[in-house]
Amino acid sequence: MTVVADHAVVAQSNGRERSSEIHIGLLGVGRVGRAVVRLAPSAAKVAGQRIRVVSGLVRDLRSGRDCPLPLTDDPGAIFASAPQVIVEALGGTEPARTLVLEALARGIAVVTANKTLLAYHGEELLAAAWAAGVPLRYEASVIAGVPFLGTLARRPFAANITSITGIVNGTTNYVLSEMRRARISYADALAEAQRCGYAEADASKDVNGFDAVEKLAVLVRQLAGVRVAAPAIETRGIGGITAADHEHAAELGGTIKPIASAAWDHPQISAFVGPSFVPAAHPLAKIEGSTNGICLRDRDGREVSFIGPGAGPDVTASTILDDVLEAALERALWHEPAPAANTAAPSTPWFVRLASRSGLLDGPEIASVCARQNVWVERTSSLDTRRGGEGRWLLTYPCRRDQIERVTTALNAATNGEAAVWRALA
Ligand code: NAP
Ligand code: HSE
Repeated sequence: MTVVADHAVVAQSNGRERSSEIHIGLLGVGRVGRAVVRLAPSAAKVAGQRIRVVSGLVRDLRSGRDCPLPLTDDPGAIFASAPQVIVEALGGTEPARTLVLEALARGIAVVTANKTLLAYHGEELLAAAWAAGVPLRYEASVIAGVPFLGTLARRPFAANITSITGIVNGTTNYVLSEMRRARISYADALAEAQRCGYAEADASKDVNGFDAVEKLAVLVRQLAGVRVAAPAIETRGIGGITAADHEHAAELGGTIKPIASAAWDHPQISAFVGPSFVPAAHPLAKIEGSTNGICLRDRDGREVSFIGPGAGPDVTASTILDDVLEAALERALWHEPAPAANTAAPSTPWFVRLASRSGLLDGPEIASVCARQNVWVERTSSLDTRRGGEGRWLLTYPCRRDQIERVTTALNAATNGEAAVWRALA
């Protein structure tokens, strides 16, 4: 697609005259910021519009020694460089929030890929952007390389969505995929994801599910039109998943993926984030590595899926630069305040690992413990005696978390064992 630079449109968008070269003030010149600096010159070739990064903010000037850009540790100097668009690539909530609000108040369009900022302060920032009549774009904040948020925002009738299920974190999908595919350890897979630039500066945000839950809050805000507090959503990390879990998930006809899911029926929303059993036939089952994907379902049961690169500095910077072009050429998008939603955990099938050193119950005994909690077993793996004890994995039919927790408590008591449970997709 070619975006033609129309000087009149550029001038009209903020009510003031501009040159046809778009000037960016860059907040944060880390992995993503540096990729923005590196890729900005290619915008002229791809989009027919020159983009130049005119100033960059860092915390420590020594960190940007090799960067071909005037750097400062003073935010005032960024605004003094008269940018048309501020790109926020600092991460976290402060000083990002304060600086984005200042940019909007000054009538400067803002582009960010910061899901933490949007999850915790999106409402305030969107209202400020709308009040100022200035675009605030955040396409790269969720599934960085797939531009679907803007499309759905502009097509609310087409996007009459009532549920979303997706893989929205590249690091954890990469780690789980590589543990299974290449049989490498969790630690080695995570180190590789960090080396590739997929992980957050603090990778515990990825592996503990916090990055995904913030993205889910952004998606729900946009697609359901309601506010959810990220901490109110059930969130689990990928840390407990073992090689044996991967093997037995395969035996039960599926795979383990880092899932983020939400379904709504106003004002109620049920949501969770965590590693989950995904049946092999599900569209998300084959999405490997740092690739992300999301399945959106509408009220009539129709499904639309988006799949593509989810993480990495270059992928993110490309989407940011497209946002910069749009932000420079367009007005603010309509903003309507979002009411708060009631958040609950859904009923789902469960993937259960039973392990004991002193012998497990047999299949019918397990089924009868489950039945006492109205939980029904769908499939059971073969008994695994390879690891110095006995292990068995089950898939249940859908039930609530409190039911499955009562089942695991009863099974642990009966076998002196240790059960672990993860959600499964139907
Ligand atoms: P990063 O490598 O840690 O870079 C952060 C930059 O911000 C550094 O230049 C840092 O300066 C600067 N900075 C941080 N706090 C500051 C402060 N208080 N004052 C001034 N400068 C400050 O982070 P990143 O990986 O580029 O990520 C940036 C953002 O992009 C995050 O919101 C992340 O979630 C998002 N994102 C990342 C990806 C990805 O694939 N990596 C994809 C989508 C979205 P110093 O170096 O001097 O500390
Ligand atoms: N750390 C994030 C991920 C970057 O791995 O998905 C993209 O948002």
